[in-house]
Amino acid sequence: MKAGIVGASGYSGLELIRLLLGHPEVEIETIVSPSNAGSKLDDIFPHLTNIQNCDFDSLDLNDLAERTDVVFFATPAGISSQSIPSLLEKGVTCIDLSGDFRLKEDGLYEEWYKHSSPPAQTLKKAVYGLSEFYPEEIASADLIANPGCYPTASLLGILPVIQQEWVDPASLIIDGKSGLSGAGRKTSIAAHFSEVNENVSAYKLGRHQHIPEIEQIISSQIGKDIQLTFSTHLIPLTRGMMCSMYINLKHEKTDREVIELYQSFYENHPFIRIMPEGKWPTPKGVAGSNYCDIGFSVDSRTNRLTVISVIDNLMKGAAGQAVQNMNLRFGYPEMLGLTLSPVFP
Ligand SMILES: NC(=O)c1ccc[n+]([C@@H]2O[C@H](COP(=O)([O-])OP(=O)(O)OC[C@H]3O[C@@H](n4cnc5c(N)ncnc54)[C@H](OP(=O)(O)O)[C@@H]3O)[C@@H](O)[C@H]2O)c1
Repeated sequence: MKAGIVGASGYSGLELIRLLLGHPEVEIETIVSPSNAGSKLDDIFPHLTNIQNCDFDSLDLNDLAERTDVVFFATPAGISSQSIPSLLEKGVTCIDLSGDFRLKEDGLYEEWYKHSSPPAQTLKKAVYGLSEFYPEEIASADLIANPGCYPTASLLGILPVIQQEWVDPASLIIDGKSGLSGAGRKTSIAAHFSEVNENVSAYKLGRHQHIPEIEQIISSQIGKDIQLTFSTHLIPLTRGMMCSMYINLKHEKTDREVIELYQSFYENHPFIRIMPEGKWPTPKGVAGSNYCDIGFSVDSRTNRLTVISVIDNLMKGAAGQAVQNMNLRFGYPEMLGLTLSPVFP
C-alpha cells in the first residue's frame, strides 16, 4: 500500500515516517512539507541518513491522489479541512492527526480552534479514531479523525469506569501534564530550554481545545451532556504525558475491584496495560511505544477514585494510534508495525 504524509517535517510526521518504515505492508510514497519542498529528507533530518532516501514534496492534491492509497495529515489546525474533501472524492483514505474533524457539534470547532468550521458534509463522514472504542466504525471509515493526545490518555483511562456507571461523570477533574514535543517543532518563548528546564507551568487553563473533545466522547457514551475541569501543564520532558484523573465513586469500591474491571475491559486490547495494586505508571515506561499504562487508587476516606494514565504523545497520542487506525481500516493485524517496546531508560 502506498502512503503519503503531509506535515512530514513536524514531530508527528517524523514519527509516522519512523513507524511506516518498519511497516511490512506500507511504502512511503510521498512526504510533504511546503517549506522544505525539493530538499532531501536526510539533509534536513540527518538521523534518517541511509535509512530513507527521498525528497520533500510540495502539497499537490492531484499528485497525492494519483500516487497514494492513504494520506496522513500531521498538520496544524485549519489545513487538512481544506484538502481532505477533494482527496476523499478521489477515493483516497485520510487519517487526520489534527483537530479539524473531531468536534461534531455545530460551531464548536470555530469556538475552540479559532478557525473556520470544516465542510459539514465531510465532517459527517469523519469517524473518531479512538482505536480501542470504535474499531468497527474505523474499519469502514474513509476519514479517520485521530484523537488528540490528552483525550487519548484521558478517555482510555476513564471510560471503563464511566461505562460501568461506578462513578459520577460530572465530578471528573483531569490534571494533564505534557512534555514539549506535544507543542510541535515550532519554537516559542514558553518552549525555550531555559524556561522549561527544572520548571513546571500551567497553560490554557479552562481554554484547552481538548476540553470539548473529551466532553463530547464522555457525553456520547453516557447519553447526557457533561462538563469537566481539565488543567494542562508543561513539564520538562521531550516526549510523554500523564493524565491524573479524580472522580467520585457512586458506591464503595476497592483497588482490586477497579483493577479487575479494567483487566477484563481491556483483555483483548494489547496496547493497554493495567498496573498492579500499589504501582503507578510513568511516561518513561511507555516512551517510544504505542502503549497506554493505567494505574489506580481508591481513597476510601473521600470515596474518590484516582486514575493515572500515561502515553507517549507522539505514539499512542498521535502517529502510533494513526498507524493502529490504518491497520484497523485496511484489515491488517492491529499491532502490525507497532510492536516497538518502550525505550528505557
Ligand atoms: N505533537 C504532538 O504530540 C501531537 C499529538 C497529537 C496530535 N497532534 C496534532 O498533529 C498535528 C501536527 O502536530 P506536530 O506537533 O507534529 O506539528 P509540527 O511539529 O509543528 O509540524 C507541523 C507540520 O505541518 C506542516 N505544515 C504547516 N503548514 C502547512 C500547510 N499549510 N500545508 C502543508 N503542511 C503544512 C509543517 O511543514 P513545514 O515544516 O513545511 O512548515 C510541518 O511538517 C497538529 O494538528 C497537532 O495538534 C500533535
